[in-house]
Amino acid sequence: MHNLGVLLSGRGSNFLAIADAIDAGKIPDARIAVVISNLADAPGLEAARQRGLNAVAIEARGRKRAEHDHEVVAALRSHEVELICLAGYMRLLSPGFVQAFSGRILNIHPSLLPAFPGLDAQMQAFEYGVQVTGCTVHFVDEQLDHGAIILQRSVPVLSGDDPHAVAARILEQEHVAYAEAIARVLSGKYEIVGRRYLPKK
Ligand code: GRF
Repeated sequence: MHNLGVLLSGRGSNFLAIADAIDAGKIPDARIAVVISNLADAPGLEAARQRGLNAVAIEARGRKRAEHDHEVVAALRSHEVELICLAGYMRLLSPGFVQAFSGRILNIHPSLLPAFPGLDAQMQAFEYGVQVTGCTVHFVDEQLDHGAIILQRSVPVLSGDDPHAVAARILEQEHVAYAEAIARVLSGKYEIVGRRYLPKK
């Protein structure tokens, strides 16, 4: 059984999509061992509790990043987490955290990276005037929104769209992409070659 750890700071729709995908058998041999939030009042944490999952708040406010991350790493280890899924976790990970779980941390970003890294990616893309955008599931390294890409899904930007419509269209694809990416990683059938994530020969 693969133990997943989910880190979130907000509503947790990607977390719920992952949980639903597991229940539907789309991510074989996996369970969510723990959901951790840096914010005690994150709606996603409450949603995790309601599903009967281990849900832990580790507040970051007023603490040094390394010290907070150390506690998060300890909680992940105590739940024997193999793969960490960042799902709207609005904090940068310290190098110590990334190294502790090297190659075992995934993130989802709401643009087709390397375009529009950072905050408000959907709005950045809309304002730039792109006609295609999407989402990216990637490995986490020490640079923001930078690690090797696991998979991407694209969506059109239509002439009648406002930024909200674009974000909603992307989010729908995020929910599909994250589960697919986790299944791909856990399958053990892929490897990173340079920056590319390819089926093993
Ligand atoms: C998503 O748009 C994700 O791509 C970004 O943060 C948002 C989290 O949304 N990293 P949710 O909390 O999963 O609903």
